[in-house]
Amino acid sequence: MELDYRNAGLVLAHAKGSTSGRIGWESPSNIAIIKYWGKYGQQLPKNPSLSFTLSNSVTRTWIVYSPKEEGKGSGQINLKLYFEDELNLNFGGRVEKFFLGLLDIFPFLGELDLEVRTSNTFPHSSGIASSASGMSALAMGLCTLEQELFGTLADESTFLRKASYVARLGSGSACRSVFPGLVVWGDQSEVSGSSDLFALPLASDRIDPVFYTFHDDILIVSKGEKKVSSSVGHGLMDGNRYAENRYAEAREHFSQLLACLESGDVDGFGKIAEAEALSLHALMMTSQPPFILMEPASLAIIQQVQAYRERTGLPVYFTLDAGPNIHLLYPDAIAAEVAVWLDEVLVPHVGKLRIIKDGVGLGPKKMI
Ligand code: DP6
Repeated sequence: MELDYRNAGLVLAHAKGSTSGRIGWESPSNIAIIKYWGKYGQQLPKNPSLSFTLSNSVTRTWIVYSPKEEGKGSGQINLKLYFEDELNLNFGGRVEKFFLGLLDIFPFLGELDLEVRTSNTFPHSSGIASSASGMSALAMGLCTLEQELFGTLADESTFLRKASYVARLGSGSACRSVFPGLVVWGDQSEVSGSSDLFALPLASDRIDPVFYTFHDDILIVSKGEKKVSSSVGHGLMDGNRYAENRYAEAREHFSQLLACLESGDVDGFGKIAEAEALSLHALMMTSQPPFILMEPASLAIIQQVQAYRERTGLPVYFTLDAGPNIHLLYPDAIAAEVAVWLDEVLVPHVGKLRIIKDGVGLGPKKMI
């Protein structure tokens, strides 16, 4: 699909709204069931992915803006970023680079003094994708800014598509966080309108209601920094001898998952979710250099999940991102039993664990 958001006319001289103010968005992280791992071009995925948007793990971001002081060069980004109320030059530099890359789309960014104030509801380095929530919150803010200055994004679906496109440029998986529920990113013939350029929500008539009740308990095995950044990880796929097979597998899994979602096949869903997580980790192990991202405790939890499922027949499944923490996925109908198992079996077996309770959420919310 051709989509060109470059618009040289979006400059303050043409603004209809006030050129100073503040805009705030709260945006969630997401957990991929079909994983995006391998990219090309400007953050375009090698295979389609599908995720649950989360509910409690969110980034809250304010953008405060005013016209640049006379004489300060336009075409440059003038930005200060505060993370958790402290000036953060490192993160500020990343966002500045992101905004610089967006000047063709939002030329007015070069004409503003910008202050970004951002915080997360989840701990730093907890393995929850803060780039997904952070970049999607920024993208929602920038599209609101465009709408407030020029009135060009009044139509909701036009707004969301652009926000998803822009979020993707910040971090691939962030484009999925713009939407509630179950979200698809990547061109896939079985989902009409799907594109590599932006995500879209999977239509609710293709999803059995049980999947909207899913919990995601995030078991924090390690709080350390990521061993390998996503960008480096994606890059390693280029030299991975299993890469082409992996992309084919992801497409097959995607198609099978659609059938499970539609028919309410929770076990089929869980098997695919686990196979995807293990493939992702296998790919890291077969990269050059190889990375082992699981910790002993990750394996201990996986074995406990499998044993619990065998013993009880209850549909509790796991997935992982590119790190050691385990996401436990299960429908709300068995939440009480799972809570007892966590307390009485899993935690005593694995040792003290921090658990972040989350589940399928409703997508970004504007703050006032
Ligand atoms: C394992 O979206 O963080 O979480 O596009 O380089 O920012 P960049 O990568 P990122 O990769 C996410 C990888 C993953 C799987 C997924 O979320 O689909």
